Parts: sequence; structure tokens; C-alpha cells
Amino acid sequence: MRVRAWSTSANLGPGYDIMGIAIDAFSDVVEIELVSGGPDAVVTEVKGPYAKSVPLGRRNSAAAAARAALKAAEQHLTARIKLWKGVPPGRGLGSSGASSAAAVRAVDLELGGVLSEEDLVRAAAEGEREASGSPHPDNVAPSLFGGLVVIGRRIVKLDPDVRFVLSVPWTPIPERKTEKMRSLVPRSVDIEEMVRHYSHLASLLLGLATGDLRLAGEGMSYSLVDESRSKLIPGYREVRDIAMRSGALGVSISGAGPSMLFLCEECDRVVEGVRRAYKGLGVPATVMKVAPAGGADEV
Ligand code: HSE
Repeated sequence: MRVRAWSTSANLGPGYDIMGIAIDAFSDVVEIELVSGGPDAVVTEVKGPYAKSVPLGRRNSAAAAARAALKAAEQHLTARIKLWKGVPPGRGLGSSGASSAAAVRAVDLELGGVLSEEDLVRAAAEGEREASGSPHPDNVAPSLFGGLVVIGRRIVKLDPDVRFVLSVPWTPIPERKTEKMRSLVPRSVDIEEMVRHYSHLASLLLGLATGDLRLAGEGMSYSLVDESRSKLIPGYREVRDIAMRSGALGVSISGAGPSMLFLCEECDRVVEGVRRAYKGLGVPATVMKVAPAGGADEV
């Protein structure tokens, strides 16, 4: 069973830890074989452009997620996993989440589709726990189901007609980057700050649900989480300002960064502006147009 899962951009600004969108920029492919004994899982081979950045064995996020899926399905089996690693790790693009989503979907398809959506998300989030110490579901859910997913009290899927520009700076990534970026988020905020944050979340959601992209863009462009992290994002202010002057409707840090996501209608102008900004800063970066991607599925 071979399954592909796409890169994702989590948060979209104020949707910290509850929202993400699958984007067709990069993908991972897992191939699994179930053998007797377990529940357990092991990655036996990693190939692809980012193979050197992820571990073999039981500590790979795909293995942790597949093991959790087999446990949830109460199967005494071991998943032997071959991984093609196409999502660059550490860039805020849901790299570990894509491996986890592909592994969980592959296990479930092999078992005949026994797991609920909640089981799938919970199992894939165990891969995130292995990779970053916290089982946040906002990358794995869109990687599993495709499109935009909001994970609140329930899993809500939206299929908005949106286009983005994605920038991926190739700057050095600190050890345990996601943990570090999460430690920057304030543990408590005053009520005015909270109101400002959730008024932007409301605009983002209403804008996406009604197709009012200007409203969505306004909502996306402020978040107390992005504020607290922005100083560690290469060129954040300069890139953001040029993107907005080039017609972007909204901007957010992608996941825990350093990539950034720009909502746009006239995306070519935004690509040009953002490229110019990174060039001026001397920061090597890939800047591309992206669209929502589908869910993890057999290939
Ligand atoms: N919601 C998470 C964060 C995504 O922003 O820390 C990280 O992959």
C-alpha cells in the first residue's frame, strides 16, 4: 500500500493549533507492509530529497503514527514502512505531519478502513508528539483530509476557493525549532489582546466560509502568536510589507516558520514582490504559487 500526503500550512495566523490547510507545494509518500507481531512500526528505508533529515527506525514520526493507528485498531501487527521524503523538514510546512498522515492512512486502508476520523487524527498526532514533543493536530488533519480543516470540538472541513503564495527561506534551522517557537507564545494574555486575537479569527473564518477573501485576508494578518514569533522569522517585516504593497490580501507565518503564506488574487505580482524582498535581504528563498491540496490517498 502506497499513500501520498501533502505539505500543510498551519494556523493561518489566528487559528493557532486549531486550523491548517493542505497545499500542493511538496509531498511525502509512504509504502507499508503489515507483518505479524505488535502493535509496532518501524521505518526501514528513507529516500527522496530530504531523506537525510529524518531518522530511520522507530523514532520517525511515520512509525510513531502507524504504531498509534495499529493500537487504536487493536491489531497485533507491525508496520514496516518505506518513506519517500519530499516535504522539507523544519520549514513550517507540516513535514512530520505529512509522514504521519500518510502512514496512518496507509495502515487504515490496509485494515479496510476501520478507524474513525477522530482516531486517524489522534494517531497521526502521535507522530507530531514524536517529532516536536506536542501532539498538535493542525498539520496532520489537513494532510489527512485535504483542503482547510478546523479542529475544534469537532473536525470541520472547508474547501475554500483560495490561492496563495508560499515563501520558503533556506536559512539555518535551530535544533528543536518547533519546541522553541512554541515556547515564545505567551502563556497568558490580557482580555483586550484576547479580543483582538479572536476578532481576527472570526474575520478569517467568516471570510473563508462566505468567499469574502478581503475579510479572510484581514483576519489572517494578525495573531498574537505570529506577533510573538515574528522576530525570529527571517525578514518578516520587510517581506510582509512588500507582499501587501504587491497586492497580497493576507499574510501569516506558516506553522512555526520560517516559511510564510500570502493569500492573494493576483498572485504573480505577489511572487515578484516577495522574491524581490528576500533578494534585497540576501536571504535564499523559494517563492511559489500554491493551491489547496487533497487528502492522503493511495498512489
Ligand atoms: N500549530 C503549530 C505551531 C504548528 O504553530 O506551533 C507547528 O507545526
